[in-house]
Amino acid sequence: MARKIAAGNWKMNGTGAALAELKAIAEATRDSAAEVLICPPATLVHAAATTMSGANVAIGGQDCHAVTSGAHTGDVSAEMLKDAGASAVIVGHSERRTDHGETDITVRAKTEAAQNTGLLAVVCIGETLDEREAGDTLKVVGTQLAGSLPNSITDENTVVAYEPVWAIGTGKVPTLEQIGEVHDFLRAELVARFGADIGNAIPLLYGGSVKPSNAAEIFAVSNVDGALVGGASLKAADFGPIVAALSQA
Ligand code: PGA
Repeated sequence: MARKIAAGNWKMNGTGAALAELKAIAEATRDSAAEVLICPPATLVHAAATTMSGANVAIGGQDCHAVTSGAHTGDVSAEMLKDAGASAVIVGHSERRTDHGETDITVRAKTEAAQNTGLLAVVCIGETLDEREAGDTLKVVGTQLAGSLPNSITDENTVVAYEPVWAIGTGKVPTLEQIGEVHDFLRAELVARFGADIGNAIPLLYGGSVKPSNAAEIFAVSNVDGALVGGASLKAADFGPIVAALSQA
């Protein structure tokens, strides 16, 4: 069985004032049986990690470069995130794949960088609406999964997030059957490649328009071990109930 994780992706939202909301999230999720992770913008990682020291909320980055240091203006390395207090990093989010042309090869290198640095990698995959309508969903996510994960991953250092691109920030959510079909497929692929012990223990998160009103039913789907939450992770009033639903699932 995989452990449960509720992860929040703040995307490009939040200045120092948002640390008050982070404290409210820690308070609202204090008794969570699930792991709680918040990924604020890079500018807030250090302050967020300091603010959360001793709390149950881990702090992560939203992206990292594949190499440790060098001439890469504007980029942040996994080592820098770790130094700032992060314990995790999201890699391969569809907004990175779209806005920055990241391929599975890039994402795999970033996952390796996270692993080499001791950060938990939250590796994102997901199909577009066109791909789903063409009947290619499993082919697409299977290819992304195979290409984005290095051979050396374990359930300790890697989490996979299935995020249909068309469900992110749109309020549209796949049916529970569609989520279950993909998660069961991903689980089988992980077991086939990494063996039953590791493959069954890698947490599989669902992401895309998760909110308090749909969280419990999504967490009841087979092989859904948690969520990667965007918009609804910005407020304790929304994220708290989502974490509570996961704790009780
Ligand atoms: P959303 O974003 O919850 O706002 O749909 C999810 C994500 O992009 O991780």
